Amino acid sequence: MHDLQDLCQGHLPQIAPWFDDPVTRRWLGGRDWAENTLLLAKADTNRHGLIASIEGNPVALLDVEVYADSSASFAIVVDPRLRQRGIATRALKAMLEFTRFATVSRFFAGVEHGNESSTRFLARLGFTPTAKPSEQGFIDYELVR
Ligand SMILES: CC(C)(COP(=O)(O)OP(=O)(O)OC[C@H]1O[C@@H](n2cnc3c(N)ncnc32)[C@H](O)[C@@H]1OP(=O)(O)O)[C@@H](O)C(=O)NCCC(=O)NCCS
Repeated sequence: MHDLQDLCQGHLPQIAPWFDDPVTRRWLGGRDWAENTLLLAKADTNRHGLIASIEGNPVALLDVEVYADSSASFAIVVDPRLRQRGIATRALKAMLEFTRFATVSRFFAGVEHGNESSTRFLARLGFTPTAKPSEQGFIDYELVR
């Protein structure tokens, strides 16, 4: 896996089918999720749509938002054909090492109750659940560094 690169319009046709997958749709949403990630990244310098690739092919998309308090939230989706092979784990390690996020001291992701794949891979990377679920039933998993 190479360095993360910014999501651009040209990636959309390649990654749109990931959002037809029922698991992606259940936890994140449909094709508009990728389009919104691109729009938000273009409109807001604190928002980053990032693509992880293997041999030039996109394999994961990250949506990262950096806040004024040096924390950052993120969500990730992996190509449904390539899950259970460690790609999310590698993409998140790349995010943690990404120079653009060198000043971020706390990363967190809101995981919906029941999303076991997410909780397992985040836990293996050292993320821990924060005490309180949000009003929407999400639990934040955080990594402080
Ligand atoms: C959650 C999600 C990102 C995980 O992606 P992934 O690439 O499958 O994650 P990983 O492969 O790194 O880890 C998942 C599993 O693969 C296993 N794995 C890791 N490396 C492996 C390898 N080389 N060979 C086989 N299995 C491996 C892990 O042990 C883990 O197993 P477990 O969950 O049964 O304990 C993916 O399922 C997804 O896109 N889901 C839909 C969107 C979503 O829910 N996003 C989360 C919002 S934050």
